[in-house]
Amino acid sequence: MSLKNWDNKTWLSSNSYIKSFNKFLTKQVELNKNSKILDIGCGRGKILGSLSQKLSLKKKPIGIDIEKHKDRDKRIIFKKIDALRFLKRNKKTFDLILIKQTIHLFKVKDIKNTLKLSKSLLNPNGKILIFTLDPINNEIPTFSAMKKKLKKALKRDKKIIQSISFLFKGKLIKGFSYKVKISRERYMEMVNSKYISVLLGMSQKTIFRGLDEIKSKFKKQIFFKDKLICLVLKK
Ligand SMILES: C[S@@+](CC[C@H](N)C(=O)[O-])C[C@H]1O[C@@H](n2cnc3c(N)ncnc32)[C@H](O)[C@@H]1O
Repeated sequence: MSLKNWDNKTWLSSNSYIKSFNKFLTKQVELNKNSKILDIGCGRGKILGSLSQKLSLKKKPIGIDIEKHKDRDKRIIFKKIDALRFLKRNKKTFDLILIKQTIHLFKVKDIKNTLKLSKSLLNPNGKILIFTLDPINNEIPTFSAMKKKLKKALKRDKKIIQSISFLFKGKLIKGFSYKVKISRERYMEMVNSKYISVLLGMSQKTIFRGLDEIKSKFKKQIFFKDKLICLVLKK
């Protein structure tokens, strides 16, 4: 099961989201045109492409993902490869390693190795920035079966973040929050295309029931804050 529709014409790939995310990012880590950047689990690579343009990067940043989208960003060097495989082979070093809404998809045993290897590839002032859904204050619109699965997934995410913080002396900083306004119709399409990992294993029957629930639960326009927490690891 793979995530093909995560940033497929959703608020997550909108110019406004990408712009405000990159504004947030560049406040957390000092970057300039010479910076070397890696995005693990980059999806379509739009965030990284936009960041590259914003910084006028001399060297194209590298984005890796196990999914190779036809409409991926051309401003990056994209590699279709599993994160661990890439990190084991790669000899390049980086000023920023971004892992956004991806770490929860890794097997627990792989997370430690992924971060250990990532840390070894950091330049002296480099940082790893890990973003994940705010496990406590998130406002993702859900239907009941989705809510249950999300609650369980977020409990696991919280544990993962706690153990990473402990093992790698990570520091949680103020997270990123984005005000989403989306039509109920469009959000229902997103749910139907299983945009988020908690929907991946659900049967079509459960999804259809969920769509009915969303239709009766939400108004024509849905407003919510997409909230992420951010964990910073240094060399
Ligand atoms: C929720 S999406 C996040 C995409 C992007 N970082 C963003 O925030 O828009 C997670 C991405 O991680 C990728 N992914 C999952 N497991 C991976 C692995 N082992 N190695 C590399 N990428 C992986 C998925 O294919 C997917 O594109």
